[in-house]
Amino acid sequence: RTAELDSICLKAEVIPVITIERLEDAVPIGRALVEGGLNVLEITLRTDCALEAVKRLRDALPGASIGVGTVLTPAQYRQAEEAGADFVVTPGATQALYQYGVESPVPMLPGVATVSELMSGWQYGYRRFKFFPAESSGGARALKAFAAPLPEVRFCPTGGINMTNAEEYLALPNVMCVGGTWLTPKALIEAEDWAAIRDLARQAAERFHH
Ligand code: 3PG
Repeated sequence: RTAELDSICLKAEVIPVITIERLEDAVPIGRALVEGGLNVLEITLRTDCALEAVKRLRDALPGASIGVGTVLTPAQYRQAEEAGADFVVTPGATQALYQYGVESPVPMLPGVATVSELMSGWQYGYRRFKFFPAESSGGARALKAFAAPLPEVRFCPTGGINMTNAEEYLALPNVMCVGGTWLTPKALIEAEDWAAIRDLARQAAERFHH
């Protein structure tokens, strides 16, 4: 599990978190991000067309890793598996999700914001987590502090991350990548400005290259 998540996260230091409002936007957005150099994408389950978008992206972009985010229940986890997700991301975690994730063939990146939450996941064998909401839960300083009691744990922080503060997180030894919505601004999607999204991705890919 840990190795699988590491190999996905190592493909990109930045993971765009994408909400698809119109199904037909999914492939152009995904293609723009991949062309820009980001090939690990997270599609949130915040809209009705999200799972269909994941299926289309998998077919259109076989070289990319497609995750399903905002998974709140085991039932949604199962739907993500069925849609062909490469990984699942949750904003927080419940015992039911932890349990389901241990048995699933698709690895989960559970969301945590505190040491107690980390310890719950740790008990189930999880060593890779999403730190969410990163900026309002103490930011990079909190992650630095988490490393003292739990040095093996590594994170993908999201929530309030952008081009300006990403560096601060990526400089930490327990951060494997960062995620966020800043690469897919609503206004650019509505304007179908795929070139601008590609340029945002390129900027991030070049700046935060491994
Ligand atoms: C997530 O689910 O990771 C967040 O919605 C991303 O937060 P952001 O909009 O602050 O990047």
